[in-house]
Amino acid sequence: MAVDLTKYISSYKDFPKKGILFRDISPLIENPDAFREATNRLAAFAKKEHANLIAAPEARGFIVGSPVAYKLGIGFVPARKKGKLPTATVSASYGLEYGKSTLYMEKKAIKPGDRVVILDDLLATGGTYSATAKLVKQLKGNVVGAGFIIELSALKGRNKIGDVDTMSLIKY
Ligand code: PRP
Ligand code: HPA
Repeated sequence: MAVDLTKYISSYKDFPKKGILFRDISPLIENPDAFREATNRLAAFAKKEHANLIAAPEARGFIVGSPVAYKLGIGFVPARKKGKLPTATVSASYGLEYGKSTLYMEKKAIKPGDRVVILDDLLATGGTYSATAKLVKQLKGNVVGAGFIIELSALKGRNKIGDVDTMSLIKY
């Protein structure tokens, strides 16, 4: 029987700042059936898009993206925060629902024409997705899909994704 993933999301008022209703995937990844269900569904999506790479932003994107790459037998490319990558990088800055940041990707991680699905735990304003997509595009990869466990629809992150095929497992 399919697992009801909504039961495995916790919500916290005023975290990390007043006015934010924080949706937390911790219960989902702590439960093996729920984590497997989410991974399998995102993997089916990435397979349908014929991805040969998964890219995901630090930190929670790594939790979501790595098992999908492993399941599909394809590579995983991390978009990392400042000062973490040892070789030449490209960078992209973005605004967050609660802050500002820059992500970096190793130039050698993506080859022209690679089919890349970007995965993350949550789509809010779409800033993190957009920065990750910019990194992939700077390296001449094709972003062929965007997948999330949670989408906060009111924040309209989808508007930043444009016509890339997008799926989210839970919408609020
Ligand atoms: C959170 C979340 C997404 C992003 C979504 O990450 O994991 O990556 O925000 O927001 P957006 O759509 O408005 O960009 P956060 O920056 O808190 O980093 P973390 O994964 O290191 O906790
Ligand atoms: N939960 C987790 N991460 C987030 C959220 C949220 O509600 N909003 C922006 N990043």
